[in-house]
Amino acid sequence: MGRRVYLETYGCQMNLADSEIVLGHLGRHGFVEAGSELEADIILLNTCAIREHAEERVVGRLTQLLSLKLRDPRVKLGVLGCMAQHHRAHLLDRLPFLDFVLGPDEYRRLPAILERQGFDDPTIEVRLGREETYADVAPARRDGVRAWVSVMRGCDKFCSFCIVPYVRGRERSLPLPLLLGQVSEAARAGFREVVFLGQTVNAYRDGDLDFADLLRAAARVAGILRIRFTSPHPSGMTDRILEVIASEETVCPQVHLPLQSASNRVLERMQRGYTIEQYDRLLERLRRARPGIEFSTDIIVGFPGETEHDFQTTVDYLRHAGYDHAFSFAYSPREGTRAARWPETVDREEKRGRLQAVIELQERISLERSRAWCGRPVEVLVEGPAKRGQGWLSGKSAQFKTTVFPSTRHAPGDLVSVGVRDATAHTLIGEVADGPRLEPSANA
Ligand code: 5AD
Ligand code: SF4
Repeated sequence: MGRRVYLETYGCQMNLADSEIVLGHLGRHGFVEAGSELEADIILLNTCAIREHAEERVVGRLTQLLSLKLRDPRVKLGVLGCMAQHHRAHLLDRLPFLDFVLGPDEYRRLPAILERQGFDDPTIEVRLGREETYADVAPARRDGVRAWVSVMRGCDKFCSFCIVPYVRGRERSLPLPLLLGQVSEAARAGFREVVFLGQTVNAYRDGDLDFADLLRAAARVAGILRIRFTSPHPSGMTDRILEVIASEETVCPQVHLPLQSASNRVLERMQRGYTIEQYDRLLERLRRARPGIEFSTDIIVGFPGETEHDFQTTVDYLRHAGYDHAFSFAYSPREGTRAARWPETVDREEKRGRLQAVIELQERISLERSRAWCGRPVEVLVEGPAKRGQGWLSGKSAQFKTTVFPSTRHAPGDLVSVGVRDATAHTLIGEVADGPRLEPSANA
C-alpha cells in the first residue's frame, strides 16, 4: 500500500478545490488517503492567509499535530497554500518542526519532495508560476451533488487590504474546452450542480472567449441542473454576463457580490474600482435581468480611516440592498499590502462593536427575507440528510437558501418542489409540494 496522506483544508472554496487537485495528483503517484491524522504518514494543511485569525487557527492546529510527530518521527507535516506563500521561510522560525512549506503553485512537486525527504532539512518551495493552472491534473472529487470547478487562478486587482494577489499571483484561466470537459465529466459522475471558482471568477478569459461564453456553454451540458459561480468582482459584471444570467435557466438566480463598504471614500482607499452608485446600479440591473435573484456579500468594518459616518453609510446600504446573507469581517492588516502601511484608526473595541452591529442587523434582514418565502414553493436540489433528525432531507433552493423538509421518497441529486412553511434566518423549513400550491402558512 502507498503512503497515507491526511489533508485538512482551511479558508475559501478555492482552497477546497485545490485540495482536491493535491489529492488527485498524489493519488496518481501512488499515495492513498488516510481516514484521519492518526493513520497518516503525511499530514498536510492547506491554509488561508486572508486574516490574522485564519492564520492563528492554523498555527494552533499545527502545534497540536506536533504531538503525532513526536510519537512517530517518520510522520511528515507540511503547510500548503496561501499562508505558506505569505510567510515562506519565516514559518519555520515559529514552527521549526515543519517538514515542508509549499505555495499554491508548487503542488506538482509534492510527490517528488515526499519521495526525497529522508529526512534532513525542511523544503520550502514558494515560486509563483504565471502559467500554472493544474489543467492536466484530475481532481479527486468526493462523490456528491455539487462539483467545484476552478476556472481561473490568481488576482490582478490589488485591493489595498487584500493579500490574495501576493499569495496567489497573477490571473490565469484554464482553456474553455477543458473546463467543459470537466463539467461533462462531473455530470457523468452524478453531480447535478457545478460551481465555477476563481478569485475574480468573471475575469475568466480564453483568447476571445470570456466568462459569459463559459457560463452559456456550461449551462447547456446535459445532466447539469444548476450552475453557480463565486466570487465575481462587481466591476467585471459585463452586459454579456448579465445576458446569460437572464436567459439561461440553469444559471442560478443568486450572486455573491462583495461590497466591502458603501462609503465612496472608503471604497476609493480600498481601491475597489467602483462607486456605491455603480454597485447599486449593478444590483438593479441584475434584478431586472433575473427577477427573484438573491444576493450575498462581503463587508469589512474598521478599515483604516473608516469614520462613524462611513460606517453608518454601510449600515444604511445593507438595509437598502436587502442581501440574503452577508459575511462580515473586522479589518485585519496583512503585511505586504498597501493598507497595512496606513495607521489603524479604528481601535479593537470599536471594530468589534461595528462588526457586531453589522452582524446583528444582517441577521434581522436575513430572517425577514427568509420569512418572505413562507407560503411559496422553492425548488430544492437534495444534498443529503438534514441535521434535525431522521426522515428529514436538506438541500439548497435555486437562491442558495438551505431548505429542509421531511421525506422518505427522495434522495441526493433529486430536484424537489418544496412548499415553505417556516423559516429561520438561514434555513427554510417546508414540505414536499405535490402539485397544488400551498396556502400561506399560519406563521408567515
Ligand atoms: N481584513 C479583513 N477582511 C478581509 N477580506 C479580505 N482581506 C481582508 C482583510 N485584510 C475579506 C473581504 C473579502 C473576503 C474574502 O475576505 O471581504 O471579500
Ligand atoms: Fe482580494 Fe480584491 Fe482580488 Fe478579491 S478582487 S481577491 S478582494 S485583491
